[in-house]
Amino acid sequence: MAAAAGLRCYFPGSTIGSGFVRPSSSSRGRRAAAVAAPSREAEPAASLGHRTRVDFPILHQDFDGTKLVYFDNGATSQKPFSVMKTLDEYYRSYNSNVHRGIHALSAKATDAYEGARRKVANFVNAADSREIVFTRNATEAINLSFLLLDKKLFSYFVYQILLTVAEHHSAIVPWQFVSQKTGATLKYVGLTKEEVPDIEQLKGLMSNRTKMVVIHHVSNVLGSMLPIEEIVTWSKRVGAKVLVDACQSVPHMPVDVQKLGADFLVASSHKMCGPTGVGFMHGTFEMLSSMEPFLGGGEMIADVFNEKSTYAEPPSRKSWQHISMKAFVLFQMSGYMVQHLPKQITVLLYALSMLRTFILQILQKFLISSTANLVLFANPLFQHGVAIRSGHHCAQILHRTLGINASARASLHFYNTKEEVDVFIHALKDTIDFLTSQH
Ligand SMILES: Cc1ncc(COP(=O)(O)O)c(C=O)c1O
Repeated sequence: MAAAAGLRCYFPGSTIGSGFVRPSSSSRGRRAAAVAAPSREAEPAASLGHRTRVDFPILHQDFDGTKLVYFDNGATSQKPFSVMKTLDEYYRSYNSNVHRGIHALSAKATDAYEGARRKVANFVNAADSREIVFTRNATEAINLSFLLLDKKLFSYFVYQILLTVAEHHSAIVPWQFVSQKTGATLKYVGLTKEEVPDIEQLKGLMSNRTKMVVIHHVSNVLGSMLPIEEIVTWSKRVGAKVLVDACQSVPHMPVDVQKLGADFLVASSHKMCGPTGVGFMHGTFEMLSSMEPFLGGGEMIADVFNEKSTYAEPPSRKSWQHISMKAFVLFQMSGYMVQHLPKQITVLLYALSMLRTFILQILQKFLISSTANLVLFANPLFQHGVAIRSGHHCAQILHRTLGINASARASLHFYNTKEEVDVFIHALKDTIDFLTSQH
């Protein structure tokens, strides 16, 4: 299931020459067999992709007569009508400050806002909706956790923060700040020969010096999944806190924060078909209550005096007003996604099997040597209407570890169809054929 969250299709970095495609000697000068473009009309009515894509207006557009195939969901997902409608209704009929006014508009906005918190809490099975703190995005949620923790946990230079080389920059750079401020050491877990994070190494590195373990649930580049429950158990044994970056798992699979047992888990609305500008952090109530406030201001106070203030209980202590406007739309999405999550696997498995065959047959014959070249590679794909991501995916340490500059990522969501996978495979073959003919 994890690999399904992001189909990885990376190309070994070439040290040879400056050409961006180097055909193998066996294929040089030969045109690949023509691949018939699949028909996009003959779509079985019952599939999840076909049933849900009608809800996503952006998916139904052409570029110079070519239909869009959106396979960049790992970067951001598209938004259904219900999200746009909820935002529109909010601004048209009950725009007001939550938790402030006593008038009907404010009461309705407050209900929607707290309803969102409950829905998100249910979505990830939090024990209490007060354990959900809304933030502006996942990056802010991670920064929030380090700002809240650093004074307590990292006051000695002997302390260590454990990460894997596959973390997103958003989960690395905040801990570099902590390290620079406190002298705590950053320790990176490498990859196995299967090119997934080395769990045995992670276990071996844990000691009573380890204060924080920062790990992804599903990698945004490798598509691999880490055994969070086990890692939490090992971390607790040495007294370390665990932060799970669940940006790529929450939108694609059921995530149960109680079962995982981590101290913090963060995710992002814009990857979950919700609006941009909202993320959330789950932290146990006990943990959140023991932490210092993040931003001083309106919503987080209990009483304000001339010299000092007392603070509200979580979640208000951590969050603040201006992010709340879109947060309530998340609840729409969590309801919507709950219906579809368990069913999204079929098309992803199809895509994986198609891609695996394809990679074995064709792709291994080509080497692509730089980020710029990968962009050149992604561009012809878009001539076929296929939007994928190329570059380092905010994971430069991982790419360096793999010895490559960049990779191309096709990532699907539940609204994608088998027919789109066929278009993608066709576009990939055609692109490589085209690039080969240029050399
Ligand atoms: C694994 C991972 N972590 C963190 C982030 C950052 O999320 P946000 O855009 O909500 O800050 C991303 C987004 O690309 C991601 O894929």
